[in-house]
Amino acid sequence: MEFPFDINHLFPERFSILDQTLVAGRKTAGMPHLQANIETVIDELGRASAKAQQLPASITSASKLQSQKHQLYLLKDVESNGGRGVVVGFLKVGYKKLFLLDRQGSHVEAEPLCILDFYIAENLQRYGYGRELFDFMLQHKKLKPVLMAYDRPSPKFLSFLAKHYCLTPSVPQANNFVVFEGFFVNISVAQ
Ligand code: ACO
Repeated sequence: MEFPFDINHLFPERFSILDQTLVAGRKTAGMPHLQANIETVIDELGRASAKAQQLPASITSASKLQSQKHQLYLLKDVESNGGRGVVVGFLKVGYKKLFLLDRQGSHVEAEPLCILDFYIAENLQRYGYGRELFDFMLQHKKLKPVLMAYDRPSPKFLSFLAKHYCLTPSVPQANNFVVFEGFFVNISVAQ
């Protein structure tokens, strides 16, 4: 995904972690144009992800990120676009309190890290970038994929999880979240 400004200047590292402050590994206070460009990138990525998932509205935007305690991992490619860099995709995570059903149908209350949004630019899908970004997040969070919950995963994402992390089948839930066998091993049963 190309932008009319220098992505390598905006995001110095291959991976950036953005939070409520929208800071990408640097202090943007006193540099409002950098902050505005970061907002443009997040809004554009959110729109593209919603379109790819055929959602009526974006679930990721700069204003949403500023108001929620979520983290957004961003992957760029340094060399493309004449050395200005391109944004390859993003992954958004956050903790959520969930009421889940285990394999026996017992109610379990948990607050796992959830995958909330995930998108790789259309022309770059199926080149391993999604795996690279997901692995970076797992390493940063020191987590295994089976211990996470997945918010309304798309068919492509379910295929991704089955292929790379052998996550299948899931334990049926009454909400939009998907969890897999093994999730409940370290969770205390509420009821
Ligand atoms: N059709 C089916 N499976 C796909 C497709 C596709 N078009 N694209 C990727 N996959 C799955 C397959 O398992 C594929 O393996 P295969 O090529 O051997 O079949 C595997 O992902 C490829 O792995 P990567 O190259 O590492 O993944 P990629 O860089 O394509 O990123 C992602 C995966 C993020 C799901 C990407 O395809 C994408 O952005 N899709 C559109 C948006 C989307 O559906 N996001 C998930 C939303 S749900 C949520 O965030 C909770």
